[in-house]
Amino acid sequence: MSRIPFEQLPADVRQAVVDKTGRVHAARTVWGGMNSGIASVLETESGSVFVKGIPADHPQVGAQGREAAIAPHLPASCPRLYWHLELDGWSLLGYEVVDGRHADYTPGSPDLPLVEAALTELQEIKAPADIEIKNAMDRWTEYAPPGTSYYFGGDALLHTDFAPDNVLIVGEQARLVDWAWPTRGAAWIDPGTLALRLMEAGHPAESAVGFAGRFPSWQAAEPEALAAFGAATAALWREIGAEDGTPWKRTMLEQAATLARALAGPL
Ligand SMILES: Nc1ncnc2c1ncn2[C@@H]1O[C@H](COP(=O)(O)OP(=O)(O)O)[C@@H](O)[C@H]1O
Ligand SMILES: [Mg+2]
Repeated sequence: MSRIPFEQLPADVRQAVVDKTGRVHAARTVWGGMNSGIASVLETESGSVFVKGIPADHPQVGAQGREAAIAPHLPASCPRLYWHLELDGWSLLGYEVVDGRHADYTPGSPDLPLVEAALTELQEIKAPADIEIKNAMDRWTEYAPPGTSYYFGGDALLHTDFAPDNVLIVGEQARLVDWAWPTRGAAWIDPGTLALRLMEAGHPAESAVGFAGRFPSWQAAEPEALAAFGAATAALWREIGAEDGTPWKRTMLEQAATLARALAGPL
């Protein structure tokens, strides 16, 4: 969806933000991502805050609620959530600002070990039992080959969207943002979704799968589970690519098919 500057939010919504932060001195729209109708860094009386939001009647508004619910359970690499506001047709989240740049996933990038460290930290976290969270089996069942969705089950907390604009690099740390799709499932799924994004950035399948293999969860996964993941990922991106043929989606569709072939055969 198109992104509006902070100043174009309704006056009462801006006032509610001011009630949280104090006077807003400056607002700068940030780029990256697609769902947020507003994504701005505000300089305020109480310091800087990153505000992301979507209209309350938008089909993705549930994602804002999921992000707010999972926030207290996230590891240190994720920014702190300060507040969640719902009023006058808007749902807004106010976060600690991560003053970084989008991760570079290209082969040989010095960001890759930092991304590995952040995902290693996340891999230790169990999905909290007391909040509503998506289940990997439900999310992948319609794409996975018949009878294989149980492989996706598990108790790890998964991010599932490792687009490089959801990973911000600050100094020697990678920080994971955009928890719109927190999911409970098998821990190897996150290394798998990251592998596809590495391929999008130019890694051959063997090197992307090799990167996933640095994570113990991936090493321990049954080959049949990884093959099911490859097939499901290819089916998912075939569906996304069929709906809308923008070039990056076509790239993802082709890379997902290549990944599926790599995971179907001997590694
Ligand atoms: N805490 C943060 N501090 C600074 N910038 C952020 C922060 N979180 C996200 N961003 C930036 O805003 C963009 C959009 O935010 P994101 O949470 O990814 O929403 P979406 O992709 O759903 O629009 C990100 O790609 C990133 O560039
Ligand atoms: Mg994003």
